[in-house]
This record gives sequence, structure tokens and C-alpha cells, in this order.
Amino acid sequence: MIGDLQYPEGATPLDPNELGGLKHKHVTTQGELDQLEQANIESGLRWLGRQRAHVLTDAFAVTLHKRLFGDVWDWAGTFRTTGKNIGIDPVHIPVELRTLIDDAQYWADNKTYSPSEAAIRLHHRLVKIHLFPNGNGRHARIMADAVLDRVYKAQPIDWAGGYDLQRMNERRTAYITALRAADQDDIGPLMRFVGPRNDL
Ligand SMILES: Nc1ncnc2c1ncn2[C@@H]1O[C@H](COP(=O)(O)OP(=O)(O)O)[C@@H](O)[C@H]1O
Ligand SMILES: [Mg+2]
Repeated sequence: MIGDLQYPEGATPLDPNELGGLKHKHVTTQGELDQLEQANIESGLRWLGRQRAHVLTDAFAVTLHKRLFGDVWDWAGTFRTTGKNIGIDPVHIPVELRTLIDDAQYWADNKTYSPSEAAIRLHHRLVKIHLFPNGNGRHARIMADAVLDRVYKAQPIDWAGGYDLQRMNERRTAYITALRAADQDDIGPLMRFVGPRNDL
């Protein structure tokens, strides 16, 4: 059983109950867990590639998390019930998610924002709500890219920019700093973080 997980800055630690939801009881190191999660995410991305369902629904957001993390964590695709250092009070998660999805559909229908800005705003609101016990950053980046692809017929964002966004490095620092600015209603740093795109 895994003991002390290492968390980069801007990650939300798991509580003991959530750690108990690890499906592979033989895992003892962070490296093994990272590999299992990565393999699960890759199979989830293959599932996403085959999906034809509308991606801008709350049910889709939940199913996507289950597909990305459900081989590793038994709480994948279920909303967070514990408080974290990031995220809203868990009792408000279902309503806030529905509101966000409705807003994002409105942005698409009314061309409120460029595709990139709409995806960035969706991403930030998802991680700010913090739907799940873990995997929120990865899920919300894939969700934003799925909306770019399916709803806007636009290219995905190069989030990692050649770095590993799950570890501490200058790219992650810029990402977390930009999210904190967005928390204060300044979306500019996150727009600059994703860099020049055709539609911005
Ligand atoms: N100040 C913040 N405001 C909004 N989102 C944040 C903030 N700090 C971190 N985050 C998001 O939370 C994620 C970490 O949450 P976590 O559930 O551990 O996701 P993951 O396991 O995919 O890294 C970060 O990758 C980032 O997307
Ligand atoms: Mg995490």
C-alpha cells in the first residue's frame, strides 16, 4: 500500500479514505502509481477518440473522468465529498458543474469567446470547482481539448509545452500562477500561457 505520495505545488493531497480507493493494492511507489495512471489515461483517450456523444454535458464530464482514472481508483467518476485546499464546498459541485456546462454551451452557441478563450475559461472553472478527489487538472485539460475538437473543430492546446506538467518545473509554475490569476478574474495570464493560436 502506498504511503507518502509526492505532490507538486498546486496539487490536492488525497485523504486516507481516498487512498484506500486504489484498485492495485500491490502499488508501493509513486512511480508505479504514475505509470498505472498514465496507462489508464491513454486507454481513456482511445475511448474518447471513439466517442460520438456530445461532450458538453455534465454526464460526459463525469464519464470522461471514469474512463481516464477508473482502472486505478474506485472513486473515479464520482464527485469529491471531502474539502480540499482548492475547490468549492463539495455539496455545491453538481449544481456548479451544471451551471458551467450551460454557460459553455451558451458561449459556443453565441460565439461569446474565441474557441481558445472558451476552452481556457471552461478549463479554469472546472479545476476551480474541483469535481473529483484527484485527477482534476488532467481531466479538465482533456475536457477543454475535447470541446475544442468536437464543438469548435479547433486544435488542442499544447498544455505541457515540452515539459511534464505533473512535476515541478517552470512550465507548471507558469500554469499554476496563471490559474491563480484566473481565480482573481484575470484570464490574461492563462491566455498567454497557452501561447499564440490562430483564433486568439
Ligand atoms: N489556484 C488554483 N485555481 C484553480 N485551479 C488550480 C489552482 N491550483 C491548482 N489548480 C488545478 O488543480 C490541479 C491539481 O488538482 P488534482 O486533482 O491533483 O489534479 P491532477 O491529479 O490531474 O494533477 C492542477 O493541475 C491545476 O489544474
Ligand atoms: Mg493530483
